[in-house]
Amino acid sequence: MPHIVVVGSTMIDMIAYAQRLPGAGETVQGDTFALGFGGKGANQAVMARRCGAKVTMVNTLGDDVFGDTTLKNFLEQGVDTEFINRVPGPSGVAPIWVEPNGTNRIICVPGANNAMTTEQVESALSAMPEIDLVIGQLEIPQAVTAAAFRSAQARAIPTILNPAPFAPISDELLAAVDWLIPNESEFAALHPEGKQPESDQIIEEFAKMLKMRVVVTLGEAGAAYSDRGNPVVRISAPRVSAIDTTGAGDSFVGAFSFALSSGLSESESIRLGCLCASESVTRLGTQSSYPTADQAAELIRSVRGS
Ligand code: RIB
Repeated sequence: MPHIVVVGSTMIDMIAYAQRLPGAGETVQGDTFALGFGGKGANQAVMARRCGAKVTMVNTLGDDVFGDTTLKNFLEQGVDTEFINRVPGPSGVAPIWVEPNGTNRIICVPGANNAMTTEQVESALSAMPEIDLVIGQLEIPQAVTAAAFRSAQARAIPTILNPAPFAPISDELLAAVDWLIPNESEFAALHPEGKQPESDQIIEEFAKMLKMRVVVTLGEAGAAYSDRGNPVVRISAPRVSAIDTTGAGDSFVGAFSFALSSGLSESESIRLGCLCASESVTRLGTQSSYPTADQAAELIRSVRGS
């Protein structure tokens, strides 16, 4: 069982589903509302855990009821919470709007996520003797993720950065990233000339420039991978009918991370990521839409040796 450490965010997702989203100054009526567990870090942790990894979450929660329920959710999911701190004030929340075609718009209000410190993550990582992979995103202070990745790098532990939501990445963080997993818009925002990942050549040049392994998630088109500029490998995703894409990218990262640290090949790991993400978009909600442990086990069997 690989040990994955997620140094990242937790949010409570407040999801409104509507036929049409409001413009400025407009009110529209919605169809459904759901309150659920989210935050890119938490989602990736839960997906990796459902696939079968031992997962430790490093995060800071507020002292509110959202913090209590988030902790309870992690315990129910089997995610280790030993290195989750609590501080006075609100936990992170994410109001989300979803259209009938499954497209979402998200506002993250980080709250206690922003209270994470470099000391917290350095002492958490040093207290864990066996770690196979460290994952980060951009929903907590970048200096904190950079500190965690530097600690990982010093112990030759691979790191995965999911640069979401997009923000310019500091040089100190970039220097400690082994795997970068952007979606199309994050790729374009990170590209020095703003190019979309439209061709193998563009992706190869980007991965070569960064000297990293880059996996670009392409929604229903699957994913494209280049190892530091080597020829792109494309993995397709199954055709599904999407009703809610919220958290699909996180499902990809969590499943991919499990597979990679379990010794599956890069292609198999990307395939598992695509399968889990594709399943997630067929159900409403964020973590609630992810494959269960039994469903994940079936998907893992289907990718082994594929
Ligand atoms: O990627 C989806 C996630 O983004 C949601 O769970 C929301 O909390 C935001 O972090």
